[in-house]
Amino acid sequence: MAGHPAPSMTWALTRMEKAKDVKDEEKFYKFEGVIYSSIMSPAENLEALRTMEARADDVMLVAYPKCGFNWMVAVLRKMMAAASGKKEPPAMHALIEFYSPDAQKFIAQQPSPRFLGTHLHPDNIPVSFKEKKTKMLVVWRNPKDTVVSYFHFMNKNPVLPNVEWDQFFSEFMSGEVAWGSYFDHAVAWDKLMDDPNIKIITYENLKQDQSEGIRQISQFFGFPLTEEQVQTIYSETTFSAMKESGSHGKLGSAFFRKGEVGDWKNHFSEAQSQQMDEEFNKRLAGTKLGALLQYDTYCK
Ligand code: A3P
Repeated sequence: MAGHPAPSMTWALTRMEKAKDVKDEEKFYKFEGVIYSSIMSPAENLEALRTMEARADDVMLVAYPKCGFNWMVAVLRKMMAAASGKKEPPAMHALIEFYSPDAQKFIAQQPSPRFLGTHLHPDNIPVSFKEKKTKMLVVWRNPKDTVVSYFHFMNKNPVLPNVEWDQFFSEFMSGEVAWGSYFDHAVAWDKLMDDPNIKIITYENLKQDQSEGIRQISQFFGFPLTEEQVQTIYSETTFSAMKESGSHGKLGSAFFRKGEVGDWKNHFSEAQSQQMDEEFNKRLAGTKLGALLQYDTYCK
């Protein structure tokens, strides 16, 4: 890939830091009605992505922003290394929407199994993933903690504009945030829950019993693990282990903040809580994903 850096996690983190010099009002743009980062996902990336070729043995990780994506990146890398007997875990080459057209050519030449990830709405994931029946692990989190985590991330990640809580809450509720509406994504994934190539897990269930989550993920992808390997992966991917690992360099405190369930109670007003309850009732109550999210347990 002449003259073009490989799209690694380090490349993405370096690019994020460089965004300090970009004005807030230039950090977002809209592509087909949805907000994206102009620095990380310019339109040429998203256009080229449409024809990306998936493989049946790609390992695809999907999450709406702030639902626990980086946690699962660490779990899956360790799982793939343990199952293959390789010492060096496979790289996650940054989100597919961060690939430039040249970077996509680089990814096309990488050996299988490739480890890929995205925050895209399922309708915008390249169609080839469906055609090849690529397995996708999708992580969800209750909307109240998600918006709080997103709010702090906006103010800590130089790629994203700084925001103030009340304004950001309104934008989140109307879907005017990067990658679009939480509820639109959730409603779309709910319809795919019976697809055998899709496994949906939640942040809250992982917090409750991480070892069980690791076992289920390894079964889904067909990566056999001994119980000892499960326990090693668990101990290396707890919140404190990951925060202390230094994996995200200077942006560590942006990606590893609190790692808890229920921090929304320190941010929401009574009216905001009620507004979210009403939206959840309207969009997700009575759905399978709605039930999996255990809204009454974690959001009331
Ligand atoms: P908080 O901001 O609530 O702390 P994403 O990786 O999708 O951006 O999600 C980030 C959220 O996951 C942050 O939530 C972060 O602290 C949390 N997180 C990261 N690693 C974690 C881990 N090992 N265990 C639990 N939560 C983790």
